[in-house]
Amino acid sequence: MLDIAIDTDQSAAEFYADLTSSAAALVDGEPDAIANMANIAALIWQYLPGLNWAGFYRVIDDELVLGPFQGKTACIRIAMGAGVCGAAAASGKVQRVANVHAFPGHIACDADSRSELVVPVLINARVIAVLDLDSPVPDHFRPADAAGMTKLIGAIANNLG
Ligand code: SME
Repeated sequence: MLDIAIDTDQSAAEFYADLTSSAAALVDGEPDAIANMANIAALIWQYLPGLNWAGFYRVIDDELVLGPFQGKTACIRIAMGAGVCGAAAASGKVQRVANVHAFPGHIACDADSRSELVVPVLINARVIAVLDLDSPVPDHFRPADAAGMTKLIGAIANNLG
């Protein structure tokens, strides 16, 4: 088994460098995208504090479909462009939302969620999925989280599709 030891007192840059190494090691040599998404959701859930949901939605037939995740049961299908996940998928841009109630069209899967970070998963410049992170804490995600998660997902994207 992998020996993953992430010290949460590290700086954000060190934290994300370690998390990215762990993520890359987990998916290394494994071509099954679902298995890899499951382990990456579990890894993030275990090490990133303050989450109430962490997981993936996959782009299937121009719609987002629930993928592997940790947290409470969630909406299964999201239209492209709808809510925070749909905005990330439609634009290909990271969405860091401090207050989900102020986001037009936000989809409340879990009423506890207050802030959200959604990172598109791109393969050959095409969005094949999004990573969705929710927090019950308002304005939980820092710019360093958006940057760190974007690098992490970029490093493993080819094993997620
Ligand atoms: N809140 C998301 C929907 C997905 S769930 O939070 C798991 C959104 O607005 O896209």
